[in-house]
Amino acid sequence: MIQKGLKGIVAAETLISHIDGENGQLFYRGYEIKEITKSFSFEEIAYLLWFGNIPGEKQVKVLKDQLKCNRDLPENMKMIMDQFPTNMDFMSVIRTAVSAEGGNADYIWKPTTSQAIRLTALVPTIIAYRKRQLEGQPFVPPRNDLDHVANYLYMLNGEVPLPAHVEALETYMILTLEHGMNASTFSARVTASTESDIVSAVTSAIGTMKGPLHGGAPSGVIELLDEIALDGDAEKVMNEKLMRGEKLMGFGHRVYKTRDPRAISLKVKIQELVGEDPWLDLAINVENTAVTLLEKHKPGRSLFTNVEFYAAAIMKAINMDAELFTPTFTASRMVGWTAHVLEQAENNTLYRPQSKYIGTFK
Ligand code: ACO
Repeated sequence: MIQKGLKGIVAAETLISHIDGENGQLFYRGYEIKEITKSFSFEEIAYLLWFGNIPGEKQVKVLKDQLKCNRDLPENMKMIMDQFPTNMDFMSVIRTAVSAEGGNADYIWKPTTSQAIRLTALVPTIIAYRKRQLEGQPFVPPRNDLDHVANYLYMLNGEVPLPAHVEALETYMILTLEHGMNASTFSARVTASTESDIVSAVTSAIGTMKGPLHGGAPSGVIELLDEIALDGDAEKVMNEKLMRGEKLMGFGHRVYKTRDPRAISLKVKIQELVGEDPWLDLAINVENTAVTLLEKHKPGRSLFTNVEFYAAAIMKAINMDAELFTPTFTASRMVGWTAHVLEQAENNTLYRPQSKYIGTFK
């Protein structure tokens, strides 16, 4: 018996996170996500995922310092990035730049938390370096008095960001740090299971994240909402899409059969951030209309908003360009990927499923 797409197959034991898809709950190391998002920083939750416990003041300071020390791009990476064609998409840029980091001979089996921290520190700078390069603007070097999320926004825009924008992005990034055996994390674990290095593992993951069924959805959400705004009739636009067999971006999930808890937390955050806002009203109307339509077109499939739907709204509210949505998701998910690579290395077994031959024998 084959499980297409490995649906429902348990491929590893993990201490990192748990998803209760029936009840719409997500736990990082036993802590329910909706609780910790309110009280902790990006660095504290990254520490939790890597090291297994919520850090004390001293531990979080050490981690913040380690992240800051690793923000600068190595010269060879900049040289490679300077050669990229301007039409190279952002995810390919990140994949290739991160891959260049693997030229460093220190990246050997087994992976270390220092390597995980370094990779996490580098990604925002890679994104900002590329963005400024495309805009013909000088690179904005990282600022050591700014923490991880604030510094990311600072490097992108060259201005110290508004605290409300930092808070909104930090909420999004914490909610997307980790999510069990999703496609990109699985890719990372498969690569790590060959005893390859951590850079190769996360390079595999970035390539997997790029696809529109996984990390590429939020810009699809903006496109959907823009199309509906232009037409003025949400039900008609979405009905036509569903009749043509198209998927509605930002809806449906492999594991959640109820509302994605991350979508719920992001909806609260965006409401706090923008208050009354016509674009948010449109998103809420689209959500309600889509859920009814999806139940009509796909009865019993339990299709609700996933994290990407309100992620798109958060990004729009903080003036993040659509092309940076998936890269930003990558910047946060680097923590989850590396935590899984470290876990895989602790008790490694090579991933090697089988396929069933359905051709003829000649
Ligand atoms: N719009 C319309 N129909 C949908 C949608 C959707 N968004 N999602 C699922 N369906 C339908 C499928 O067509 C399928 O119908 P069928 O039973 O008639 O064949 C049924 O619901 C089950 O869907 P599958 O695609 O088999 O579910 P799967 O678990 O494989 O896919 C996925 C999950 C990829 C997320 C899917 O829901 C989807 O493509 N959504 C749109 C893209 C998206 O928002 N991706 C972001 C996911 S969250 C993340 O990765 C961080």
